[in-house]
Amino acid sequence: MAGRARDAGAALRKVRDAYLEERVPLSGFTTWRTGGPARYLLTVNTRQSLIDSLRVLREAGVPLMVLGNGSNVLVSDAGFSGAVLKLKESLAAVEVDGESLDAGGGALLGAAVSRALRASLAGLEFALGIPGTMGGAVMTNAGTFAGSIAASLSSVEAVDRSGEPVTIDRFEDVYRAALVDEELVVAGARLGLTHADGASIRGRMDKMRIRREGSQPQAAATAGSVFKNPPGEPAGRLLDQCGLKGKTVGGASVSDAHANFIVNSGGATSADIKALMDMMAREVEKDFGVRLEAEVRLVGFEEER
Ligand code: EPU
Repeated sequence: MAGRARDAGAALRKVRDAYLEERVPLSGFTTWRTGGPARYLLTVNTRQSLIDSLRVLREAGVPLMVLGNGSNVLVSDAGFSGAVLKLKESLAAVEVDGESLDAGGGALLGAAVSRALRASLAGLEFALGIPGTMGGAVMTNAGTFAGSIAASLSSVEAVDRSGEPVTIDRFEDVYRAALVDEELVVAGARLGLTHADGASIRGRMDKMRIRREGSQPQAAATAGSVFKNPPGEPAGRLLDQCGLKGKTVGGASVSDAHANFIVNSGGATSADIKALMDMMAREVEKDFGVRLEAEVRLVGFEEER
């Protein structure tokens, strides 16, 4: 692997419109502010550079992960021995065409939400405050009580691991699960929205903001909900009833505002967060017989989901 990885470095450096860095700590790219180094951190700026990079990585046998906003991921302290891909520039652009909104896989959902509001397009209000990227949203069917991305998705442009472009235009609206094959890299998504009155769109967004501010920790280093809601009771209520709010492992604690959020209150490691997650899941299983499933994606741990 060492020899091939060196070759991959040389070949990746030659890809046009891509920028390669090596051994970069991922703590600077995750909202929990934890995570060890990536062997390669590759920023790709165009669809062609994405295709070329995927071909090089496949050829060299280098494992790959796409990092969006780093807001739903726990990277181990040992880091990731493959290549981490960041999608920028034309792969992070947001454009409106009539009632369609096109967003690159690397575009922040927040940018798409504000662009939709500016164009008086309704249908994306539910996403106000979701911190991820469009690619991340497609890979998790990001949503809130008011809806999820599957409902407005018309098509996804993706690239497979061998660098072949793929278009997907049928999606199943499943709770917090990937809407396209997880082996694909989402280059961009087209959303179908509808023209509406700006004041009504803004009104729905204000409601979302108020509800979120009242129930979730604000301005804290978190990764959103840690566990998926199991059938029946929401994970947050179960965790709360176990008395877990405020419980701490190292620098990680269960939020006092919402028991399904873990806050890095300073100096947490990924091992602290993982140990706290394990403790939370254990307590819920003990008290309620319910096995919680992680919503955050675990990277570089033995038991990745
Ligand atoms: N609750 C408690 N104690 C708590 C937290 C919640 O009793 O500490 C109760 C609440 O009172 C409420 C219920 O649990 O009756 C559900 O809580 P909430 O309304 O906060 O919603 P949630 O199910 O915990 C989901 C999404 C969030 C999304 C919110 C708002 C999941 C796992 N989480 O949270 O998404 O923002 O709805 O729509 O589906 C995320 O996925 O990262 C995320 C933040």
